[in-house]
Amino acid sequence: MPTTPPGRLILLCGLPGSGKTTLARRLAAELPAVRLCPDEWLFHLGLGLFDEPARDRLEKQLWRHAQDLLRLGQTVILEYGFWSRAEREAMRLGARALGAAVQLRYLAVPLEELHRRLESRNAAGDWGTAPITREMLDHYATIFEPPMPEELARYDA
Ligand SMILES: Nc1ncnc2c1ncn2[C@@H]1O[C@H](COP(=O)(O)OP(=O)(O)OP(=O)(O)O)[C@@H](O)[C@H]1O
Ligand SMILES: [Mg+2]
Repeated sequence: MPTTPPGRLILLCGLPGSGKTTLARRLAAELPAVRLCPDEWLFHLGLGLFDEPARDRLEKQLWRHAQDLLRLGQTVILEYGFWSRAEREAMRLGARALGAAVQLRYLAVPLEELHRRLESRNAAGDWGTAPITREMLDHYATIFEPPMPEELARYDA
């Protein structure tokens, strides 16, 4: 029986406006890869982008789907934001258990720049994007756990 080459998981980590969706769209075409963006799924399912219980269920389901794709040798991009180190670690270990490579791409962008980007995105009202105010962004920044070099070193290149 032919062996399936191991898949590759790419985690996009960063605050709102850091460019995860923009980068994921480019990588999906270049690599190629399957991108899984919870915001777009919530939008297309007619659910609110701030419906946290729905987001939680959706992210768990997309993770099951991602693992199926990894088992089939696909490259999968997850656009969850991954604010928490524990969440990133769970994905890393889960993917490695399947024999997949795991890449963590941290989009580090200064708060002022994030604010500028979100202000213009909010004004454009792009579908599938959450309107984020300055106050929300400042609060999110206090919760976000940036990956440190020793954590980044555990990932594949
Ligand atoms: N490298 C960049 N330089 C300048 N502007 C950018 C860059 N990447 C993305 N943008 C712009 O910033 C805005 C936010 O980008 P994007 O929607 O990709 O962020 P995001 O991380 O997916 O945000 P969210 O977490 O809310 O989904 C968009 O209007 C996009 O065009
Ligand atoms: Mg996005």
